[in-house]
Order: sequence, then C-alpha cells, then structure tokens
Amino acid sequence: MSNRWNARRPAGRIAYVDGHYARHGEAGVHIEDRGLQLGDSVYEVCRIANGCLFDMEEHLDRLERSLCEIEMEMPMARTALKMVMAETVRRNGVRDGLLYLQVTRGALRRDHPIPQIAPKSTLILTVHAMDRGTIARRHVEGVAVITHRDERWARCDIKSTQLLANLLAKTAARRAGVFEAWLVDPDGFVTEGTSTNAWIVDDEGAVVTRELSSAILPGVTRRVVLEAAEAEHVTVVQRRFTPEEAISAREAFLTSATGGAVPVVMIDGHKVGDGRPGPVTGHIMELYNRYSRDRLA
Ligand code: PDD
Repeated sequence: MSNRWNARRPAGRIAYVDGHYARHGEAGVHIEDRGLQLGDSVYEVCRIANGCLFDMEEHLDRLERSLCEIEMEMPMARTALKMVMAETVRRNGVRDGLLYLQVTRGALRRDHPIPQIAPKSTLILTVHAMDRGTIARRHVEGVAVITHRDERWARCDIKSTQLLANLLAKTAARRAGVFEAWLVDPDGFVTEGTSTNAWIVDDEGAVVTRELSSAILPGVTRRVVLEAAEAEHVTVVQRRFTPEEAISAREAFLTSATGGAVPVVMIDGHKVGDGRPGPVTGHIMELYNRYSRDRLA
C-alpha cells in the first residue's frame, strides 16, 4: 500500500501525525483509530498562499466548534497548533496549496459510544501543492455543475470526515464532466456543493446564499465574502433558492478555501446568463482577493 502511494507521489512530502513529522509513506495511524473505524473525526482545510495560511483563526474557530459538537477538545493549545501548522507548511516547502488537518477521537477497542474516558486524540496534518494555472483557468472560464439529491446526514454544520454522500455526488459530477454537484434538499432547495457553498445573483444584482443551519457547512470563504460584500455595499441576502431559480439567475458562483469565489456558468447543461462569468461575480472575486490579501498582511 505505502509503496503504491509512494510510486505516484513526489518523495519527501512531510506529514505531522501524533507529535511527529514523518514522510507520507511512513506516517500512519493505529488500526483501532476511531477516525478510521467509525468516522469519529472532524477536519479543516486551509488555503496556503505565498507560504502563509489564509483565514487560520476562522478555520480554528470552526474546528473548535466541530470538536465541541462531538464532545471533544482541541488537540493542543491554539498557539501550539498554529506553530505546528506553520511548521508543516514550512517543511513541505509549499508556497501555494492546501493544509488538511484531521482530528480523530484516537485509538480504542471498537465500540460505538463516546468513551467515558477519552483516549488521546489523533492529530494529522498534510500539505498538498496546488496548481495555480488550474485555479486561474476556473476563475476566467467558470465551471459547470450538476444538481444531485442531498443524501447527507442532518448535521452538515459539523465538518466531519464522513464524506461518503459528498464523494458519491462529486463522482456523479465528474462522470458528467463537470466540476461540482449542487445538492438539493427534499423540499427542492439547493443546500450547497459537495465541498463548496452555493450562490446566485438575483435580478436586482443582490448576491444570495442559503442561510446558516445544520443543512450546510458554515464556510469560512462564505463568511469572508459576506463581510466583504456588506462592507462594500453589495446587497446580500441569506435565503434558500431552487435549481430552477439558479438556472434563470443572472449569475451563479461557488466558494471554498480551495478556490475562493469561482463563477458557475452552467447548471445541469443550462447556461447561466450568457454562459460566461458575470460582472457581479467578478466584483465578488476581486473583493474576496483584496480582503484575503489584507487579512494576510
Ligand atoms: N470543503 N461546504 C462543504 C460541504 C465543504 O466541504 C466546504 C469546504 C465548503 C466551503 O467551506 P470553506 O469556505 O471553509 O472552505 C462548503 C473543503 C475545502 C474540502 O473539504 O476540501
């Protein structure tokens, strides 16, 4: 297994697992780890730009909240965790990419209930380089999405590593030759994408995204975009919308730490607007980039 992994990946990538830095092929967790056995784990994904971590405090706030919801504590003090995150980025020498952080409830003989005496949690950090060209192309050309039934659990506000429903929907999207699947709840409203938040621009030019609830992940990029838009007097509305409304909207876009704000130009094979990234999305992308740069400085 580890040889196959190594054969496909550049050597020398460093992971942080349980207090140690190790090469990917050599890093591992206990076979009884509850993250592996039961999906008893949560995660975060932070963007790395110019070697710095974007929106780190917000990601750590969300991590703390996810952990609290499953009755766990932070794996270490926040200042120490920030140092380990920065050191993992540094050791990988990645300027542009993503940092993945997973916290599992640790290793214990398999049994469903949350153990009364908590084992030591497992902290895993990995860094992945990102191809700037691919991201830039998505921003210029926009992406297509399909809609797909939302088959996830009822606590999508927790950033759980239990991602089967997400990956099945994302696979359907990729097999349809598109970038993302927008998930649709039983009442016929879009919740979010499999790994992104969903937005439209309405007839008045207001940006619309679903209100926060347990049906969606409170995206960090979503929050930054909302703050930036409000500060710049762009009208924002937090409400539900249907796929039909999205298809006939002026513009649509999606947000995530991996790509910022990305125009959506086609939904289920129907062009959104004239099928090209629109001016409001362009303005939002500009605002997001400016706000993120300022926050990094
Ligand atoms: N996904 N919705 C879902 C279901 C997500 O998994 C994500 C993030 C988002 C956007 O959140 P943020 O702006 O904080 O990245 C919305 C990450 C990137 C992932 O799982 O790879």
